[in-house]
Amino acid sequence: MIIDIICGARPNFIKISPIVRELENHNQKSKFPINYRIVHTGQHYDQSMSKSFFDELEIPKPHINLNVKSGSHAKQTSEIMKKYEKLLNSKQPNLCLVVGDVNSTLACAIVAKKAGIKLAHVEAGLRSRDMEMPEEINRIVTDSISDIFFTTSKHANKNLLLEGRRKNQIYFVGNTMIDTLLYFQKKFNKPKIYFENNLKKNNYYVLTLHRPSNVDNIINFKNLLNQIAINCNNKKIIYPAHPRTSKNLKKINTLKNILVCKPMSYLEFLFLVKNARAVITDSGGITEESTFLDTPCLTMRDSTERPETIKIGSNILVGNDNSKLKKYLSNINQGKWKKSSVPEKWDGKTSKRIVKVIHQLLKNNV
Ligand code: UD1
Repeated sequence: MIIDIICGARPNFIKISPIVRELENHNQKSKFPINYRIVHTGQHYDQSMSKSFFDELEIPKPHINLNVKSGSHAKQTSEIMKKYEKLLNSKQPNLCLVVGDVNSTLACAIVAKKAGIKLAHVEAGLRSRDMEMPEEINRIVTDSISDIFFTTSKHANKNLLLEGRRKNQIYFVGNTMIDTLLYFQKKFNKPKIYFENNLKKNNYYVLTLHRPSNVDNIINFKNLLNQIAINCNNKKIIYPAHPRTSKNLKKINTLKNILVCKPMSYLEFLFLVKNARAVITDSGGITEESTFLDTPCLTMRDSTERPETIKIGSNILVGNDNSKLKKYLSNINQGKWKKSSVPEKWDGKTSKRIVKVIHQLLKNNV
């Protein structure tokens, strides 16, 4: 029995790391080993966006790298599809496991399904209802053709049931990103920028912005950065910038309390998030990590596919409303924020549950 584990972009690497570790554990003990091949599409390829994650998160070197690199959505997606199809023509797995919502997820899901391979989706059922986000399209299409759904919340189960998926296809297992966080939290380490700027616990902010809606229009992007800088009470704001953002950032003179740096490694970034006064972001995964770490989080979007981070977590949606930004940052500066609780099954055992289900399904030839 062999499964393909697909990964392509930074958040995928964080999600597959504990699944691969759990498969290794399973194979050491079980009479029914589950062989796997890690297929890296090459969507992210830099040292800082890819290799550092494999090294730090102890992910074995990918068995296959499709090396697609960057391009428009259609170009990137179609290149991955062509190359993955060719791979499947030489060897077919019994199951294809895709994670998250990036172009690599969508591309490989379509190819595997058309090749008659069973398809499992980790982090299924998330819906922002914002069809301007490419990730929402990727989620909906992937879920519309998947056979097995691993979810992070009961809310996601509900979304899938409403879309006609059957109850016995859906497994509420929890969050593999939190498996990774718990496994590696003792190794979180201070980045150089922390020493260089004499940062202290609760005395700085972390900022990440990379969504087209926030960073592609330079004037809006500049205004947003200025508003954030002005309302952070002169505290330092650490901004590890994603490559797609760096190009525009170079054209903007940011206020001096915003410290722009290169994308950080996982262990350094999570150290910063854990100890920050607050996080300001437009990423989905970071809202989950902030919720788990009980770090206040402001999301610069109008919607979220992760409502539990708002309902019981530390996250609040700000959208592009300056008055809200000002009000929430003022609350945070005064130390007023809601207390976060950890969502159900975000307990570090999600990958164990996933591997158990995969084992049963493969054994029964489902
Ligand atoms: C992708 C995901 C997004 C996720 C993000 C995390 C999709 C649709 N989006 O967006 O959901 O939050 O990853 O990082 O899949 N680049 C480099 N080096 C790299 C990778 C990218 O320089 O290693 C640059 C390229 O110029 C590229 C741009 O970043 O054009 C965007 O990369 P791409 O993979 O297309 O999408 P992301 O914006 O990273």
